[in-house]
Amino acid sequence: MTRIAVFGTGYLGATHAACMAELGHEVIGVDVDASKLAKLEAGEVPFYEPGLEEVLKRNLAAGRLRFSSSYQEAADFAEVHFIGVGTPQKKGEFAADLTHVDAVIDTLAPLLTRPTVILGKSTVPVGTAARLAKRVRSIAPAGDSIELGWNPEFLREGYAVQDTLHPDRLVVGVANESGDRAEDAAREVYAQLLDENVPFLLTDLPTAELVKISANAFLATKISFINAMAEVCEAAGADVTVLADAIGHDARIGRRFLNAGIGFGGGCLPKDIRAFMARAGELGADQALTFLREVDNINMRRRTRMVEMVRDAVGGSLLGARVSVLGAAFKPDSDDVRDSPALNIAGQIQLQGASVNVYDPRAMENSRKIFPTLEYTTSSVDASRGADVVLVLTEWDEFRNLRPQDLEGVVRGRRIVDGRNCLKPSDWTAAGWEYRGLGRPLQHGRRRVGDPE
Ligand code: UDX
Repeated sequence: MTRIAVFGTGYLGATHAACMAELGHEVIGVDVDASKLAKLEAGEVPFYEPGLEEVLKRNLAAGRLRFSSSYQEAADFAEVHFIGVGTPQKKGEFAADLTHVDAVIDTLAPLLTRPTVILGKSTVPVGTAARLAKRVRSIAPAGDSIELGWNPEFLREGYAVQDTLHPDRLVVGVANESGDRAEDAAREVYAQLLDENVPFLLTDLPTAELVKISANAFLATKISFINAMAEVCEAAGADVTVLADAIGHDARIGRRFLNAGIGFGGGCLPKDIRAFMARAGELGADQALTFLREVDNINMRRRTRMVEMVRDAVGGSLLGARVSVLGAAFKPDSDDVRDSPALNIAGQIQLQGASVNVYDPRAMENSRKIFPTLEYTTSSVDASRGADVVLVLTEWDEFRNLRPQDLEGVVRGRRIVDGRNCLKPSDWTAAGWEYRGLGRPLQHGRRRVGDPE
């Protein structure tokens, strides 16, 4: 059992704190946001993450997990300190904003009077860990007896508990690869996972930082690759979903992360590829990553393409059109709307004169905060009342399972645009709907008896 402090109780920190307690450690979660702490203490997760609430409640009840705003309490208590605060994009720049990471170090270090290990989890520009290690040693009373390592986090929202307790691999970067207390601490904290043969990769500090950002750059590139193919398919009248299935059978390529649609969003991929380009520029390696600018461009073009497709669907102008938007979160099983392509598209369509009704099973509250001018409704049917066109922008199961008869007599025009290629076109065309998917040929609805000529 290790006594652990986790700084930051957002998507990453709260999950990490609860999961470390689940592994049997004694954990204190620390944050500066009193309202988050109050919720967590009461066993309530301040965001939607399947399965996390159970882990949180179980470990609070077992007395292994608590929350506090006191750095002093954390410094007195813990042997290992994890940094799990956010590193958002700087306003008006591509670079990452390290304010929160720096604040944790600057507040914590002066309180460290005994030998301690700090393990960073936040996604940071390469070089940050070495800089922080130097800083912490210079300001901590325990000085050189503080070891700082970097242990990047690869969790996906929606699968955060599973990814933390059963990761594909553990990566730990340390300053001294031939014997380091940060390595020992990590091996102790993750002992149960190591027993289960999770691969453990010990690296130097810059490699650990780069592993995380390059993994995200690869995933973003894979999505933009298939979205570029979708553009070509649209021009050539081909079907990108079939193409993805076919190339995905090649094990070297693989089918996962080849879903074409309105592209990637969220709190990680978009800002990470930009921060990566910015950092490479600072290091004089900017040429190596110029392709990421294209990855970003392809991704952003998908949003515009979706708006054009909707405009076409309603006859060339969005002015006065009624549009039903199903999905606001950046992906299913999440209430996160940070850089969400769905909300961005809903906003653009409204700005072009349409009236837009939005429905999402979980992300309504967060959407309303950042896009208060959109109309929010309580169900797919409610959103689609009188609609000229229905858009599916997040592939929640609830929308995948939607049937044309659910919307029969509700909509004004039987047109559906599938921004995630998650519907079966023939289900809709058979019921007389016009179906459009991204990177797929337009499919007209079969005429039904009684339809107007
Ligand atoms: C990502 C990484 O997957 C994770 O390893 C890292 O730790 C954090 O960033 P996350 O942001 O939770 O995780 O979401 P992810 O599942 O990667 O999806 C990112 C975006 O890509 C979503 O908007 C999703 O809709 C989109 N996407 C994903 C596609 O458009 N097509 C795909 O095939 C896959």
